[in-house]
Parts: sequence; C-alpha cells; structure tokens
Amino acid sequence: MIQLIKGFRDILPDEAGLWRQVEMMAADIFSGFGFLEMRPPVMEKADLFKRSIGEHTDIVEKEMYTFADRGGDVVTLRPEATASVVRAYIQHKLYNTAGVQKFYTIGPMFRRERPQKGRYRQFHQVNAEVFGTASPYMDVQLVFMLTTFFDALALKNLTVHINSLGCSECRPLFRERLCSFLEENRLNLCNDCKRRIDRNPLRVLDCKVDTCRQATKDAPAITDFLCSDCAGHFEQVTGLLTELGVGFELDRRLVRGLDYYTRTTFEVRTDMLGAQSAVAGGGRYDNLVKMLGGPDVPAVGFAVGFERLMELVELAGSVPCGTERPRVFMAALGEKARSIAFKWLCELNREGVPAEMCMEERGLKSQMKQADKWNATHVAIVGDAEIESGNIILRNMNTKQQEELPLDKMPECLGRAISRL
Ligand code: HAM
Repeated sequence: MIQLIKGFRDILPDEAGLWRQVEMMAADIFSGFGFLEMRPPVMEKADLFKRSIGEHTDIVEKEMYTFADRGGDVVTLRPEATASVVRAYIQHKLYNTAGVQKFYTIGPMFRRERPQKGRYRQFHQVNAEVFGTASPYMDVQLVFMLTTFFDALALKNLTVHINSLGCSECRPLFRERLCSFLEENRLNLCNDCKRRIDRNPLRVLDCKVDTCRQATKDAPAITDFLCSDCAGHFEQVTGLLTELGVGFELDRRLVRGLDYYTRTTFEVRTDMLGAQSAVAGGGRYDNLVKMLGGPDVPAVGFAVGFERLMELVELAGSVPCGTERPRVFMAALGEKARSIAFKWLCELNREGVPAEMCMEERGLKSQMKQADKWNATHVAIVGDAEIESGNIILRNMNTKQQEELPLDKMPECLGRAISRL
C-alpha cells in the first residue's frame, strides 16, 4: 500500500472541523482589524525565496522543495508566504492604492526539515502582512491582533518575545563585533555554528546546543548597537505594548531564521509543546519590497503555525468542534416510507441540518445501530403503521424520550422538534 510522504500528514474529518472553525475565527478577527484575504499560489520561482529569505539560511540551504519542472524552470514549493505576498504586491502594483495595505493568507507551506512532534514538512500558516507604514504603532497593533486571536481561543502560557534587529545603518557594526566575539570562542561552538560565523553569524545566537548557548552567554547584544532611529522606534514599540497591557519579554537572542527582517522582531512561544515552542513569529521587513524590485515601501507581518496552534487549542478545549448540532437519522421501514423519508432528508440537508438514512432495505434494529454509530442525536421512525396513523415517532437518543409528530406537517415539524429537544 502506498503511504503518505514522511513529514506530511492527513487532517482527517475529526480534526478538520475544528481547523475550519479556528481558520474562520482568524479570518473574522483579522478582517475586524482591516485585513483583506489574498491567496497566492503554493509554487513560485526558486529565486524569489533565495533572494528574500537569504542564501545562507537553513531554509534556503537545506529545506526547500526545489526542482526543475518539465519546461526546465526551477521552482519551489513555498516554504513561507511573505515572499509570495510581496511578489504579488509588486506584480499587481497594489502600492498604487492609497494608504496602508493589509493582507492575510491561510494555507500550506513546505520545508524539508527533520520531522518531529510539532515539526512537519507540509505545515500550515495564517499570515498577516502590512505594507506602507514604518510606524511603531503598526508593529504594536499587529502584536495586539495576534494576542487578541490567542485570547479568543483562550490559550494560556504564551509569552511574546521581542527584539529589534536594527537596520542597514546599525547592524553591520553589530555583526562585526559579534563575529570577533564568535571567532574568539570558536572552539566552544558546534560545527554548524562554526560555519555560521562567516555566513550568518546572527543565527549562532539562537542555536539550541547547550555548549553554544553557554559560549554565547556574554555575546554582544544588538540592542546595544541600535542607531538612534532604531532605538527610538523600539522604545516606542515596547512603551506602547506596555500601555496596551500586552505582556512581553525582551529577548536579545531572538534573531529569527529569515534574513529579511529589520527592526522589530517577535515570536510567541509556549512551554506546553516540548521542543517546538514557537507558535507564531514575525517582524518588520522594511527593505524587502524594494529588494524584490518594488518601490521603497516598509512592511511588517507575522505567521502563526497552525499545527502547533491546534495542539494548544485541543489542550485548552475552548473551541467547540460543532458536534453538538442535532443530527437526524431517518429510520424508514418499507419502500413507501423510504421514499417519503428520502424527501424529508433532502429538505433537511438543504436547510443545513445534518441528516442521514439507510438507503438499503434494513430492519429497524440494524438501522438503530447505524444511527448510533453515526452519533445521531435524533431518530425519526417511519413505517407502514406510521403512514397509516398519520404520525411519525421522533426519538431523542440522549434523553431516550419519544414524541409523535404529524406526518403531513413534515419536515417543518421535525425541524422545530429537534431544535426544541
Ligand atoms: P517562521 O518563524 O519561519 O516565520 O514560521 C512561523 C511559524 O510557522 C512558526 O512559529 C511555527 O509555528 C510554524 N512553523 C514553521 N516551520 C514549521 C514546521 N516545519 N512545522 C510546523 N510548523 C512550522 C515565517 O514563516 C515568516 N514568513 C513569518 C512572517 C510573516 N514574518 C513576517 N511576515
């Protein structure tokens, strides 16, 4: 039997209902903050991700699903959505519309990482991206929207980690000082980090290996190198978060795994999911639009990882998964009864009431078993005797109560009875 690909997973019906509800909550809350939905494709030219995420990042070096298609174009299954949204923003000249532009997008991403709990090769994100303002108010509003979403899901034990990565003015000096520090401590670093010193030294700061963490305990902090504009911006961000009552932790090690970030960066982490603790991450990327060939437009955004989010939602048990809706099973005995029941079934379904029946000839016992398996909340029984008497029997499967309903007032009577019981 052909099995699914390692690191990919099926979202089966018992999970999918809850996923859809949480996706709808995200869409609802984000729309309330003025975000419009965008649906970019899942595949793009490989160069888009190389140029935006950065040649020397783990994602580009090791994790992308990149291949030449049958026409010879080198394409990549998107490892993230930000680059695609920026590409669409430039390609369709969305910057011509006045004011700040806000987009959200929901969908699958692909990274060929080592699969483990909370880390998949196909995973899902909901992204929010804002174009056209460098204001710290926008950074804060985004974090506020994110925590509003998590609060609506009643999630606990989440911490917002926040840092500033400065800009092209102040980061080079920090990078230089960091590199000298890392060179002095080279012997204590893991092999990956030794390589990172030349290619992507900032990433050494968030290496999870104990010896590296120990060795970089006294490494220079970017926040000590910020130019006055970046320092002022960051001060405003943290000040406004405090005023709004959004709790956060300053985290000078937070560097993120994508190269496009400038200034504010943040992650929301939990201690409830083991090693894969980041539920959401984002920040400013003020140079990316220009770097990809667009105008000089500042931007900021974030992405929430749905697999990790859904684990937290299940632990919190705060979102009803919709199974408490009435589910009506029609138990029909005889051909005439079945054709009557079938008409009601179609009408109930059209009204949005989940209803089922046994389409083959079966005895009452077997039909009741089927109703039970399907978790019916109500069973409507109709046979020759009921047709004769003009009343059908409706059985509430939870309370075991039965009532008679007039056959000639169906299915309205049935609809009313199931909402009442
Ligand atoms: P990221 O930190 O790479 O950022 O991913 C965001 C979230 O996606 C992570 O916090 C995590 O919850 C989830 N995630 C990432 N990789 C996996 C995986 N292999 N399996 C399961 N979940 C995963 C970005 O992708 C940026 N584009 C975010 C952004 C938007 N920055 C600005 N705008």
